[in-house]
Amino acid sequence: MKNSRENKIKVPVLWLAPFKGITEKPYRNAFSRHFGGFDAMYAPFVSGVGIRRIHPSKLADILPKNENLTPAVPQIISTDAREIILFGNTLQQQGYEHINWNLGCPFSRIANKKKGCGLLPYPDILDKILEEVFSEIKVKLSVKTRLGYAHADEIHKVTEVLNQYPVEHVILHPRIGTQVYRGEVNLDGFADSLSAIRHPLIYNGDIYNLSRYRVLEERFPEITTWILGRGALMNPFLPLQIKGVMPADAEKRERLRAFHYELLSEAQKSISHPAKLTGYMKAIWYYMSGVFAGGKEFFIRMKTTKTPEALNNAIDKALEQPFAGDEELENYFKNDIRHVGKES
Ligand SMILES: Cc1cc2nc3c(=O)[nH]c(=O)nc-3n(C[C@H](O)[C@H](O)[C@H](O)COP(=O)(O)O)c2cc1C
Repeated sequence: MKNSRENKIKVPVLWLAPFKGITEKPYRNAFSRHFGGFDAMYAPFVSGVGIRRIHPSKLADILPKNENLTPAVPQIISTDAREIILFGNTLQQQGYEHINWNLGCPFSRIANKKKGCGLLPYPDILDKILEEVFSEIKVKLSVKTRLGYAHADEIHKVTEVLNQYPVEHVILHPRIGTQVYRGEVNLDGFADSLSAIRHPLIYNGDIYNLSRYRVLEERFPEITTWILGRGALMNPFLPLQIKGVMPADAEKRERLRAFHYELLSEAQKSISHPAKLTGYMKAIWYYMSGVFAGGKEFFIRMKTTKTPEALNNAIDKALEQPFAGDEELENYFKNDIRHVGKES
């Protein structure tokens, strides 16, 4: 007979991935209130903070710290060590202990400036930046990265550099930058990094349903922390489900409804133009439509609405639909999520 220790379910640590334009504070807080399941939420990147004094508008998404219902991790995208130091030390004074450096953004307008994963082909520059940053930064620094920009073997030299510094952890999305979101994640590449990187390694990429999580958990039993992105935007019950909690369908409908109306009313405070407001909510529902069995059809109908009232009517109707099972979630993720392969 198994002893009680062996019978215990291993509860993973789950973090929300950052999505610029989607997972800003109103989204993160509404998610925490109505769905839950995340242990931390990475805030979308901040850029252009400068080297003297950071304009308060740049920090509005993460300050004050105690307004974040789930602990937030601020993220910066930069190749200027002085900016990273100023960002970290300013946030340290505001109570933060940890910031994240974005070395993964694949979009060419960023990568062409050697920012995001555009820095990965230049390990010497990476080394110089880290040397300067770690000489003065007063908070923990983690990095979020890919296997490379143009080639998956870029990670080898990057790993040699990262291994020389007290990096808090490395979040790895095992694709290369030029893939953007096309093709499959490179699990062999992730496995190689697991043995090469001496810092705690966090997995990120294409966890689109519970079955997919189980496959990855089985393949990488050493991984204790996972960062969920589009899979959770599509099915906000995924983190709870992974932790073994599944609300009944009626409760799920109520939570989705409450989330929608809270986010809409928060967004109304800063977006007054009806078409812009519905545009923002459609960006959310573009992903979240996948939670319904007829997700694609629902999104096509919802896309044509031009006012919040029409959008609300469409959503009230959608809330009568059955929920998607794992197979439908996988199909929606693979076929209908526009960002697959798209440069925006
Ligand atoms: C619209 C959009 C915005 C994103 N914004 C950020 C960001 O601000 N910082 C970051 O590190 N990654 C960003 N990402 C990447 C995601 O955090 C995540 O790493 C990626 O989607 C892969 O994980 P997933 O397959 O679980 O979605 C963004 C992705 C998309 C599609």
